[in-house]
Amino acid sequence: MTKMELLSVKSTSDLLLLYGFFSLLLTVTGNSTTSEPMRTSELTTAGKSTEPAPENVENVSVETQNTSSITIKWDKVNNISTYKLQYKENGETVINNISNADAVVQHVVSDLTAGTEYNFTLFTEANGVNSSGLLFPAATAPENVNNVSVETQSVNSITIKWDNVNNISIYKLQYEENGDTVTNNISNADAVVQHVVSDLTAGTEYSFTLFTEANGVKSSGLLFSAATVPLSVTSVRVSERLVDRVTLQWENPNKAWKHNLSINDTNASITQEETTNVVSYFISNLKPGTMYEFSVITVFSGLNSSAYVDHTVTQINCSAVSWSVTNSSIQGTVEGLFSKATASNGSEPLISPEGKNVTFSDLFPGATYNISLLYETSSAPYPQCLIEIPIIPPSLAPLCSYWGSGYSAQIKWVEPDGVWTTAELSISGKTFTLNPNENRLIVDGLQPAKKYKVSVISRLETKADPLISEPSISFCSTDNRGVIGGSLVGVLLFAVLICVVVFLFLKKPDIIRRKKSFLSGSRTSDSKGKIVPVTKFPDHYRQLSLDENRGFSQEYESLAPAGTHQTQKAATLPENKGKNRFTNILPYDWSRVKLNTSNPNNTMDYINANYLPGYSSSKEYIACQGPLPNTVGDFWRMVWEQKVKRIVMVTNCVEAGRTKCEQYWPEDRSPGSHGELIVSKTSEERESNWVLREFKVKHMKDSEERTVNHFHFTAWPDHGVPQGTEVLIRFRGLVRKHIDSEGSKAPTVVHCSAGVGRTGTIIALDVLLQQLQHEQAVGINSFVYKMRQHRSHMVQTESQYVFLHQCIMDSLQPPGGQEENVYENDDLIYVNATALRQLR
Ligand SMILES: *[C@@H]1O[C@H](CO)[C@@H](O)[C@H](O)[C@H]1NC(C)=O
Ligand SMILES: *[C@@H]1O[C@H](CO)[C@@H](O)[C@H](O)[C@H]1NC(C)=O
Ligand SMILES: *[C@@H]1O[C@H](CO)[C@@H](O)[C@H](O)[C@H]1NC(C)=O
Ligand SMILES: *[C@@H]1O[C@H](CO)[C@@H](O)[C@H](O)[C@H]1NC(C)=O
Ligand SMILES: *[C@@H]1O[C@H](CO)[C@@H](O)[C@H](O)[C@H]1NC(C)=O
Ligand SMILES: *[C@@H]1O[C@H](CO)[C@@H](O)[C@H](O)[C@H]1NC(C)=O
Ligand SMILES: *[C@@H]1O[C@H](CO)[C@@H](O)[C@H](O)[C@H]1NC(C)=O
Ligand SMILES: *[C@@H]1O[C@H](CO)[C@@H](O)[C@H](O)[C@H]1NC(C)=O
Ligand SMILES: *[C@@H]1O[C@H](CO)[C@@H](O)[C@H](O)[C@H]1NC(C)=O
Ligand SMILES: *[C@@H]1O[C@H](CO)[C@@H](O)[C@H](O)[C@H]1NC(C)=O
Ligand SMILES: *[C@@H]1O[C@H](CO)[C@@H](O)[C@H](O)[C@H]1NC(C)=O
Repeated sequence: MTKMELLSVKSTSDLLLLYGFFSLLLTVTGNSTTSEPMRTSELTTAGKSTEPAPENVENVSVETQNTSSITIKWDKVNNISTYKLQYKENGETVINNISNADAVVQHVVSDLTAGTEYNFTLFTEANGVNSSGLLFPAATAPENVNNVSVETQSVNSITIKWDNVNNISIYKLQYEENGDTVTNNISNADAVVQHVVSDLTAGTEYSFTLFTEANGVKSSGLLFSAATVPLSVTSVRVSERLVDRVTLQWENPNKAWKHNLSINDTNASITQEETTNVVSYFISNLKPGTMYEFSVITVFSGLNSSAYVDHTVTQINCSAVSWSVTNSSIQGTVEGLFSKATASNGSEPLISPEGKNVTFSDLFPGATYNISLLYETSSAPYPQCLIEIPIIPPSLAPLCSYWGSGYSAQIKWVEPDGVWTTAELSISGKTFTLNPNENRLIVDGLQPAKKYKVSVISRLETKADPLISEPSISFCSTDNRGVIGGSLVGVLLFAVLICVVVFLFLKKPDIIRRKKSFLSGSRTSDSKGKIVPVTKFPDHYRQLSLDENRGFSQEYESLAPAGTHQTQKAATLPENKGKNRFTNILPYDWSRVKLNTSNPNNTMDYINANYLPGYSSSKEYIACQGPLPNTVGDFWRMVWEQKVKRIVMVTNCVEAGRTKCEQYWPEDRSPGSHGELIVSKTSEERESNWVLREFKVKHMKDSEERTVNHFHFTAWPDHGVPQGTEVLIRFRGLVRKHIDSEGSKAPTVVHCSAGVGRTGTIIALDVLLQQLQHEQAVGINSFVYKMRQHRSHMVQTESQYVFLHQCIMDSLQPPGGQEENVYENDDLIYVNATALRQLR
């Protein structure tokens, strides 16, 4: 505190006066310790020259301030409780009289002007004497900015703007970023201040405080908030693209961000699903094969990101196209976007000409094509659809030729390019089904010198309905029987035949007679062929073998029509169809074996079996098919009802992986029951080429029990040869011995698979060897002819026919070592697929 400031010395006279006063004062009080000078005014007005001036307050601190007041505080000094605070406001001096005895005095100076620095003087007063006064400055807080406006926002900055208040030019802006407080120091004296807050995080809401500052004092701060713009989606995945809907997906880094998806179709319906951080939008109700433009905007706090724009294309519904298909082409008109259409059956794809009209030609008949449509754009290829279309199988043009005699025809076709499942050939009201590897069929049972219409279709099984080719029609003319058109050999053979017959009539009338008696069991008196005496047989055999068995072929072929004019009604009744192993091996009605039924009109008497004549009786054998799973019961009924004593079986149950016959007897000792019959196996003897079994068959009703012997020849392999003729002759001897020893008139059941080929051969062998023994002559041709009157296809192949001749030859002379292949050619037997499927 300087004296000069407090003293107001006006003149030198005053100074002299002052000096006098001092001297007086010192002498009057004597104990004055203070050396402080006194103001002249104090001297004059107070008049208490004896009172010393109190001490000043030591230190004043400014506690707080706002725009209109300043709060100050000081410590009490020397028991003083009266203070005076002096300052200037708008040029006027203001004095605050403070009376406060507290140890710490707090005082609020109010009614001040905002943002102004004041010079305060604080006096203490004691006994009417003022202290010299403590001078200190203090300022009020400036006004806040009135209003902040957010000008623009971006992903990383916010631009704000405000009006200057009270000439203030220093501002501080505070906000939190990642947990830290960030302060922007702004110094700007413009009337309108604009400030860019940068380095912000996208899509975030910020709380800002804007302070003004004057005289080192901040205003209270204006609070406001503003957000940054969210980031736009970086990539959109078309995760599903269908005919009428697409699914779009993208990653969302911030849960608070929402999205706005738009597509250029007002009919589209959009649904949304959000998982962890993947957003899926399902857009449905779209048009097929159409280009769509979509745009995705991220939205946060009312702010839109820039749009992510892309395209996608809906697929085309190829199944809805009406494709027209022929055996070599596929055509369809396809609406919608695609740029390339291809077709492939697995090999090099074909390409359709451009345009809506998708056309593929020169296709492989019956093949299945994968049609695929593609839309190629500069940005991406869009597979538009894929469909599998099978096309119509090829037509099979039949070629008909005369075959054998006038009773048969051979129908063939040149295998065309293409694929088919089966061929169906119809002639004379009959339909034959052939596999693709069969292109030849011999049709028997025709009338000579007639014209037959042949119709062939090919059929292709597909996943949907089967495809069927247009029928190919051709006509078959059968020739007159016995006239082998134009063939010199045929004419010669015919001549030789006439000669032989004439010769036989002249020389051997007894053979003719005997032959007649032998054939007496036949229903027809008409007999073909001749009886060859033992002595002539080797010659006869040689004649037939000449020229690669030409004689055998002709004799055999001439047998083709035998018996075929007879009816097979029972076998073709709907309820009996399933009882036939093969669809074309059916018993003739007149000779079929009927099962006993109580009702005479009952069709349940059917079994695929015929009576066959033997050497001495007209019902010596029953030739039947190998039982099917569903006919085993009928088979045993027949055995029981016909009082059969033995069964001759000339097949194995399974050959080359194919079931030839159901095993109708029990495998072990445990009896099997079939309807009212119980069958048990009592013995089994295995030889290298056959198995002999004995069965006991018991009828449940009356407990009657019978023995049935089973002669099972196992060495006749499928498409193979028995060990020459000898093994079979020996086997036949075994059977013959059993028949003779039994002396019963009951028929012997003989079966293989179809019951015609091997069955016919073994029956013929048995009869012919008896004939040879009794008559010293054999009529192979005539007996086979006779058998065929009773059951179709008996001795089914030419090789079996030759084999019979060989057996006779070998019975005449010791076996000559020649081995002829004997096989059952079942290529031309049509398996009854429905019957075989049953019970499998
Ligand atoms: C003390 O100060 C006040 C205000 O300045 C004044 O009014 C008063 O007269 C003074 N008293 C003395 C004794 O000087
Ligand atoms: C300023 O502060 C004083 C004392 O604390 C108070 O009474 C007054 O209302 C305040 N004025 C404003 C404008 O806040
Ligand atoms: C202060 O004043 C009070 C009464 O007003 C008195 O009792 C006290 O002794 C004084 N203290 C001093 C240090 O003068
Ligand atoms: C303060 O006291 C002085 C005398 O010391 C007087 O003149 C003045 O009016 C007072 N002020 C108030 C506001 O009371
Ligand atoms: C603000 O300051 C300028 C000069 O710095 C002065 O000219 C102007 O009058 C002042 N305005 C107010 C309202 O104080
Ligand atoms: C702003 O000013 C304060 C002091 O008022 C200082 O601490 C801070 O570092 C300044 N900020 C910048 C970015 O200059
Ligand atoms: C949608 O927009 C795209 C591109 O602009 C256009 O090619 C397409 O035809 C539009 N689709 C619809 C349904 O309007
Ligand atoms: C944001 O986008 C939507 C539509 O996508 C629009 O309606 C809205 O006006 C936009 N808002 C802004 C601020 O652009
Ligand atoms: C499609 O094209 C094929 C051959 O290119 C033509 O025969 C057919 O008439 C066309 N069909 C349509 C509907 O244009
Ligand atoms: C596909 O067609 C080709 C002829 O274009 C034919 O050679 C091939 O066998 C066919 N393949 C199939 C699996 O049909
Ligand atoms: C295709 O079918 C037509 C009749 O629709 C027939 O004339 C033609 O021969 C068949 N082509 C083939 C390869 O099968």
